[in-house]
This record gives sequence, C-alpha cells and structure tokens, in this order.
Amino acid sequence: MCGIVGYIGEKKCVPILIEGLKRLEYRGYDSAGIGTIEDGECKVYKKTGKVSQLEDKINGREIKTPLGIGHTRWATHGAPTETNAHPHFNGKNSILVIHNGIIENYATLRKALISSGFNFISETDTEVLVHLIDSFKKKGFSLFESVRYALNEVEGTYGIAVISSDEPDKIIVAKKGSPLVIGIGDEENFIASDVSALISYTSQIVYLEDGEIAEVKKDSFCAKTISAVDIEKEIHEVTMSLDEISKGGYPHFMLKEIMEQPESIRNSMRGRLLHKEGTAKLGGLVGFEDRIADSKRIIITACGTSWHAGLVGEYMIEQFTGIPCEVEYASEFRYRNPIIGKDDTILFISQSGETADTLAALKEAKRRGALCLGVVNVVGSSIARESEAGVYIHAGPEIGVASTKAFTSQLIVFALITLLIARKKQLSHVDGKTIIKEIESLPEKIEKILKLNDHIEKIAEEFKDSLNFLYLGRGYNFPVALEGALKLKEISYIHAEGYPAAEMKHGPIALIDKNMPCVFLAPSDSVYEKIISNIEEVKARKGRIIAITSENDDKIDKMVDYTIKIPDTIRMLMPVLSVIPLQLLAYHIAVKKGLNVDQPRNLAKSVTVE
Ligand code: AGP
Ligand code: GLU
Repeated sequence: MCGIVGYIGEKKCVPILIEGLKRLEYRGYDSAGIGTIEDGECKVYKKTGKVSQLEDKINGREIKTPLGIGHTRWATHGAPTETNAHPHFNGKNSILVIHNGIIENYATLRKALISSGFNFISETDTEVLVHLIDSFKKKGFSLFESVRYALNEVEGTYGIAVISSDEPDKIIVAKKGSPLVIGIGDEENFIASDVSALISYTSQIVYLEDGEIAEVKKDSFCAKTISAVDIEKEIHEVTMSLDEISKGGYPHFMLKEIMEQPESIRNSMRGRLLHKEGTAKLGGLVGFEDRIADSKRIIITACGTSWHAGLVGEYMIEQFTGIPCEVEYASEFRYRNPIIGKDDTILFISQSGETADTLAALKEAKRRGALCLGVVNVVGSSIARESEAGVYIHAGPEIGVASTKAFTSQLIVFALITLLIARKKQLSHVDGKTIIKEIESLPEKIEKILKLNDHIEKIAEEFKDSLNFLYLGRGYNFPVALEGALKLKEISYIHAEGYPAAEMKHGPIALIDKNMPCVFLAPSDSVYEKIISNIEEVKARKGRIIAITSENDDKIDKMVDYTIKIPDTIRMLMPVLSVIPLQLLAYHIAVKKGLNVDQPRNLAKSVTVE
C-alpha cells in the first residue's frame, strides 16, 4: 500500500532512490529500505522510522552501483520492524523483492514453501513472493519467467519490483491492484509506485495495468501479461505539478481519501468473505471466535469518528448476534470504574492505534481480565500491540486529519465481525450469504455516490455561510448524523449537531428557523415514514432541508430544498453509503470557506495526549 521506487542506468542509484522515497513520504509509512547489487552481490539496507534515518544509516558508505530498488512500507502483515521492512531476500541472498499490497493466500503458500525447505525470517506476506520466485529460478527459469510463474500462484494485490544478482541488468516489475509505473530516461530508466517519485527525473511515463509484468533495462523495456501475451505499452507525457501528483491529482488528501473509498473498503474485505459458508474469516481472531461468541457482553470503546463507527457496530452486533453490546467513549470508560468481567469482550477501535484515551482504556480493561481486541488501521501501533488479538481494517494510510476512509473500513470490519459471530449463533446460512452479497456490492454503489460530487458542491455553495447545522437520522443512520456533524465541525468550524431525528422534538426543535439547515438521513427503510414526519416538523418551522434519500424515492423531493439520492442496501450497511455525501458536503463547505481542509486548526491526526 505504500511506496516503491527503482533505478537502472549509469548514475549512482542511492541518491535517486532516497529522493524518490522522500517524495513518497506523504503517503505515510513506518519503515524504509533499499536493495542494490554491489560487486555482483545483493545488498540490503533497512530502517524503521523515516527515510532520513535510512539515509543516515547509509551515509558514509561508498555505494557506486547504478541498480537499486527502494521501498517505504506501511505494514499490513507483521509489525513495523527492521526484519519486516522490505526488500525481502531469498536464502542465497540473490533475489530481492519489494512489494506493495497484500498477498491473500500467503498463509497457504508459506506452509507449502516451508515444507519444501524454504526458510522464512520475516512475518510478512511479501516474503512468500521471494521464495516462490526462487523456487522457479531453481527449476532453471529466467528471473522474468520466475516472477511471472510466481505471480500466477498468488491471490491478492501487488505492485512489485524484483532484482537478482544473477541477472544484474534488469528490474522486473508487475502490478495487480497496487499502482506501478515505469519512467523512461536517456540511458536510464526508473520504476515507481507513483509518478511523484519520478517527476524530477522524467515526464515520460508508462502505466502498467493490472495483470501486467515488465522487464526494465537501462535502455529498454518490454511488457507481457502474466499469462505471457506480449503487449505494446504507450509512453505518456505527464504535465501535472508535483503537488497535484502527490495528492493523486486531487487538491487535498481528504478528497483523495474520500474518492479512494471504493478501493479502501475492497481492501478491508479482501480475502475475508467465505461465500460458501456464508460467513467471514478474520485471521487475527482465529482461536478467539468461540470466546467472542460466548461473551455475556460486548463493549466497544473508541474516540471521535471511531466511536461513531462503534455505535454502528453496536446496532449490527445486537441485531444479528443477540449479544448485549454497549459503546463508550474511551476517556469516560477509563475514569468511571466500569464493571468488566472475564466474560466480556471489549473492542478497541482506532484508526491510528495511538490514541492515548483508547490505549489507556485498553490497559485498564486488560487488568480486569476481559478479552481485549483491537480494530486498528496502523499495523504494529500501540493498540495493536497491546490487544490480545484483533483485526486490521486495511484502509491504507490516512493523511487528512478528518477521518473518512478509515470510518467506512471500520464499518466493513464491524460487518465482518458481526457475520462471524452471528453465524456461530442464530444467523442462517442464507442470510449470511445475503449479507456477503450486499457487502460486495458496496464499492460499486460508493462509486455511484461519488459521481454526485458536483451536485453536492453546488449544495455546499448555497449553505457555506450558515452558522449552524443540524444532522438528523434514525436507527443505523443516527451515528451517521453524528459523524456528518463532526466532519463539518472539524474542517469548516461551523457549529453542527447530530441528533436522533425523533429526539429533535424534545429540545433542538427550538433552534429551527429559516437560518437553520437540517441534513436528514432519509433512505427508504423501516423508519422512513417516521423520518417523513420529522421532515414535516422542520418544514413547518421554515427550516431548510437537505435530505439523503434512496435513488427511487420521489416523495421527499417535493418536500425539501435539496435531495442527494444514493443506492439502497440492507439496513446494517446503509451507513457505509449514507456517510459519503456528508463527507463531501463538509469538504466542499470547508474549501469554499478557504480553510485548511487537511490540517484543520487545533486538531492532530493522532491524539496521543489524554
Ligand atoms: C476524526 O475525523 C477525528 N480526527 C477524530 O475524532 C478521531 O477519529 C479520533 O481522534 C480517534 O482517532 P483514532 O481512530 O486514531 O483513535
Ligand atoms: N503487505 C506487505 C507488508 O506488510 C506490504 C505492505 C505495503 O504495501 O507497504 O509488508
């Protein structure tokens, strides 16, 4: 999921690799490494932490070699340690591999390779690639063919670069699901996961497509599909500025991350759905499933956006598993002396895995003997390490301070945990399959919602000068109302409140007049008629209304100022869709107010103080 860069030519490769890796730093990473071939031998330099620390480690060494690959790792399998950092190498240290993405069937491959005598030293999924490639090389295939054969056995996503001391005149690259480009120079060529790493060297770029593999030499390159069909690749002239490129062409990380959601939620569910059995498989919970299913109570603890995801999780868990579930702010949980027993399971939800309040709550709960599970984005983070077991959400690095893609990935993971427990209890096979089908249809539905960006931007223009906002939803959409309001507060500094729509009449209704915009979450579900009544109540007091409605709804159109129509799904998954327009609305309002969307005032990406 992170950064790849490579060089083959006549210059010293190290400064080029370091500069390229620095250009990729914006993506977020936890360790970095470089691999070269020096005097006919593979050499590897790795360091946890920043690229500058890797640079310090290498400094002073006379590395003249003109061939090398570099990597910034954002750990998905195995902690961010030096051993787990890339490049990974084979036993003879004659093959080096760097990889972005996730090898889904790594556990099966690893087992098979170990029984054929290969020795693993890291915890990563990536290392299976090295030994697989090695196994084909040992059969006499070229490096290119060995990589190609290896990739034919792999399930999952990859952008990879491979070099070998046996064929020191080439870099082999391949792509599926993770980006990979070749930069064309004069008597030199480059490879990278992202054009921004190359833009200071060349503007001539070849984009590899999924399922393609290429051999890059200093003065040529050729490409095939991984099923060995020759392909002609076009060279593109890239004209974007560096800043535009590092944000993937988007003006802000927040927008990039909102737009990434079809892909980030695909990554969260990848390899975890068991279609035949109508359930989920979560590697990090293996061995704990029965204990979770037998819990007397499930408690969810988190802060901010992660707490909102927890509220949705509570609804899912109680609806489908019958286990009582409660959600609590980590800061409150820690200080109020909660009653926790050995039969309780506590889920700690955190994007960063470093939030001090959540970490302190985890330590307290552990002391009391509950089963403590982490649901975390950043691999190897403190919460991931402190928890007994857990699930990574695999949303990829989130740079914008306002959490967006982590929220939707947290919801997917809650759906998977619910499926796993519920199938051990009362959920039928058929119902399990229906949930899986719906989960899998979400990325496409999000793509559809993202197409409404221009429409939402127009609505933002109309409301950007409002001083207050009310967000209203019921059932599964109540936490979404809270999240929509938080997004707006955080980045536009407009006061906003989220409320259960029916609760409005018990107080907030006093606020409603022509200056109070209300955002209603009103999809066609079991509480639709009730929401219509709440809309009427606001209308009667001249409040202005933006409603998020179902695609086929034409009733609400006539009642409100603006509708944003989104596809339908089952109730438990609706928040994954209904939050997207709210993220976009907050984003556009903040941009129109000229505010710093990615780094709003007073906020930090991970709150490591209590
Ligand atoms: C979300 O937009 C916020 N920046 C904030 O509420 C965040 O969700 C909260 O601080 C928790 O962070 P965590 O998920 O990294 O633990
Ligand atoms: N899955 C690999 C690992 O954990 C690659 C991670 C990445 O994309 O940076 O090492």
